[in-house]
Amino acid sequence: MSERRDAGQPAGQQQTGRTAAYDSAFLRACRREPVPHTPVWFMRQAGRSLPEYRKVREGIPMLESCMRPELVTEITLQPVRRHGVDAAIFYSDIVVPLKAIGIDLDIKPGVGPVVAEPVRTRADLDRLRPLDASDVSYVTEAVGMLTAELGTTPLIGFAGAPFTLASYLIEGGPSRTYENTKAMMYGDPELWADLVDRLAGITAAFLDVQIAAGASAVQLFDSWAGALAPAEYRKYVMPASAKVFDAVAHHGVPRIHFGVGTGELLGLMGEAGADVVGVDWRVPLDEAARRVGPGRALQGNLDPAVLFAGHKAVELKAREVLDAASGLEGHVFNLGHGVMPNTNPDALTRLVEYVHGQTAR
Ligand code: CP3
Repeated sequence: MSERRDAGQPAGQQQTGRTAAYDSAFLRACRREPVPHTPVWFMRQAGRSLPEYRKVREGIPMLESCMRPELVTEITLQPVRRHGVDAAIFYSDIVVPLKAIGIDLDIKPGVGPVVAEPVRTRADLDRLRPLDASDVSYVTEAVGMLTAELGTTPLIGFAGAPFTLASYLIEGGPSRTYENTKAMMYGDPELWADLVDRLAGITAAFLDVQIAAGASAVQLFDSWAGALAPAEYRKYVMPASAKVFDAVAHHGVPRIHFGVGTGELLGLMGEAGADVVGVDWRVPLDEAARRVGPGRALQGNLDPAVLFAGHKAVELKAREVLDAASGLEGHVFNLGHGVMPNTNPDALTRLVEYVHGQTAR
């Protein structure tokens, strides 16, 4: 840990952003160091809850917007300007690296990623070639522009974890049951292992591009891992996610691991190689800390639906989160999942002010 911590303070020109952000509350909390206040950011803080987002996205398809560095920069900065959050999250999507290697897919509004030809057979795996930095030069460019603008505010890079990406590729789109995904996992474990191993390589390469360009931390989204029992997670998924974390460890930036409905998996998600474990709203943070064990910070975990209940209720529930987190070594305040599109952005701004005010030291 301490080796990584030192390695995390880089010297060198294109790493200006990371050096400037090194002492930020967010990165200090990730490293479990004392903080001036509890840092706050929100998953999906950039997006449809913001009128300024809807305006700049008008007429531009989601995936196309991810390939325009000026637009990516503007959209990433919008919630930082508006809410005063302690970190920016790079505006992109978990399926961008798959698109970049030539998979025919689109993001359908109100639905999510849809894959034209699902991956189901060994022959289909040939379509998953490794990702090269040159496939996503627009990401390198956007991260460079962003870190220059962000100054001391850290930029979080991110990617989809092998299981969650595999679920979109195999199902062909969002799923409630993951029946085709689990059919491959249980029915052809060798093919499954090959698939998630390839995805681990692509994911690691995508994170590597973002860190090399100046991202200060990375989050691995295994949003749908909660569909698995712990024994299955350990056997079929954890090795691939661990491979991703190992591959980026040498950069020395904090690695966050998040999923939804993962109460039973929190210990394993830490063991996979995370420095920070993201927790959804179903498990209080003090209990999550017992499950994760010492040596890792926690991120979370206000129910995003609370933001529809009025400010008094938001304060009450946010206070409960802070109380549950009071014994932790490192806490990054977040929602238990992403901001919902109909959320009133003012509720988010007031929540940031509330958490900062309550925790100022
Ligand atoms: O602010 C941020 O968090 C950064 C941007 C971000 C997006 N997607 C932009 C986006 C991040 C971190 C993601 C990750 C992502 N994408 C995940 C993991 C996070 C999670 O929610 O669990 C997943 C599962 C996806 C796949 C995906 N992309 C879904 C399910 C959707 C929603 C579809 C819909 O319309 O409801 C998307 C589209 C998407 N990605 C939007 C945004 C802002 C909305 C599309 C739009 O604005 O047109």
